[in-house]
Amino acid sequence: MIGAWHNIIIHPSYPIYVMMYKIPVIPGDGVGPEIIDEGKKVIEAVADVEGFDIEWITYDFGGDRYLESGKLIDEGDLRELGQYKAIYLGAFGDPRVEPGVLELGILLKLRFYFDQYVNLRPIKLLEGVWTPIKDKGPEDIDFVVVRENTEDFYIGIGGRFKGRRSKVHLELLRDLYKVKFDLDIESSSEEIGYQIGVISREGAERVIDYTFKLAEKKNMGHVTGIDKANVLNEMYSLWREVFLEVAARYPSITTEFNFVDAATMWFVKNPEWYRAVVAPNLFGDIITDLGAMIQGGLGLAPGGNINPEGTSMFEPIHGSAPKYTGKNVVNPIATIWAGAMLLEELGEVTAADRIITGIKDVLKEGRVRTYDLGGSSKTSEVGDEIARRIREV
Ligand code: IPM
Ligand code: MN
Repeated sequence: MIGAWHNIIIHPSYPIYVMMYKIPVIPGDGVGPEIIDEGKKVIEAVADVEGFDIEWITYDFGGDRYLESGKLIDEGDLRELGQYKAIYLGAFGDPRVEPGVLELGILLKLRFYFDQYVNLRPIKLLEGVWTPIKDKGPEDIDFVVVRENTEDFYIGIGGRFKGRRSKVHLELLRDLYKVKFDLDIESSSEEIGYQIGVISREGAERVIDYTFKLAEKKNMGHVTGIDKANVLNEMYSLWREVFLEVAARYPSITTEFNFVDAATMWFVKNPEWYRAVVAPNLFGDIITDLGAMIQGGLGLAPGGNINPEGTSMFEPIHGSAPKYTGKNVVNPIATIWAGAMLLEELGEVTAADRIITGIKDVLKEGRVRTYDLGGSSKTSEVGDEIARRIREV
């Protein structure tokens, strides 16, 4: 369900219809709640200007709830969330909880359950923002990374093994396909840890096709495929093969391949070469942190976990920054920008553009900015200022 039309009676014979969106919000841990508050503030401002309504439905998944009740997120929660088109997410991670428990048990659980196979991460340097790359400006750093979000080394299949011999049965059960591995392990090592990565033809095809479609829609003209086909050749030769098959359907778009190690070098040396980049999950994770740095820092980097036919989820790509919790100092722009991506996914393109313009104006003017950008404004002041400018029109 995207939203519902609400009949607002102003005059009995002339009803006015207003679009009402119900949006689940998961503020999460650490600074999550603070930045999500600013994101909601800005979305509410743009909703007023554009004339639609928002109803937030808040969920308390995260560290506090886990420590109190041992609960992460269960099937019932997931089914409920599945009624909606887009979820707004803060951040996960709590120093009191063993690393990975909340990230795997909530964040990755959501991404996999909803089969959000696209992780869309714009790498865009906005005017007025400092980049550590010498002599590069907003015209040079303006591309998008599409990270595959369900496969590769993220499928959680592997094990640790201390003995001499063991039989292990591992399963990857997906809607798209099912794979079973029967391993007969014989080891003379003191202990081994192993992890199985999987790329499927179907999984690669859908995310690569999404990237080409996006490049076509946004006139990007060029798509780069990332991999490590020179070494991890079984997985990534399949990835390359599928890439070439998909590319053949888009003859007006030029293409190239980069090995991931080389890509990290070119991102820094010649970021202006990139338009749309499509990467397998793990490499996409790594290069988008690098991307965040060249666009001015993690405080400015948004991401969308997208299932074009299902439930998507929008979040800043940074973590929960526990040491800043409650201090009202972190930069909310990544989250506000993620809010714009959420509205775009709902089809509210003008509203999304208004948010981006608000962010751009505030950064360009430079008066209200948080510490990471050399300022001393509070988290809430940045949200207030962006919301104020949106309402000004
Ligand atoms: C990200 C994060 C996550 C990931 C972690 C927290 C599971 O680093 O969104 O990039 O690896 O995908
Ligand atoms: Mn990451």
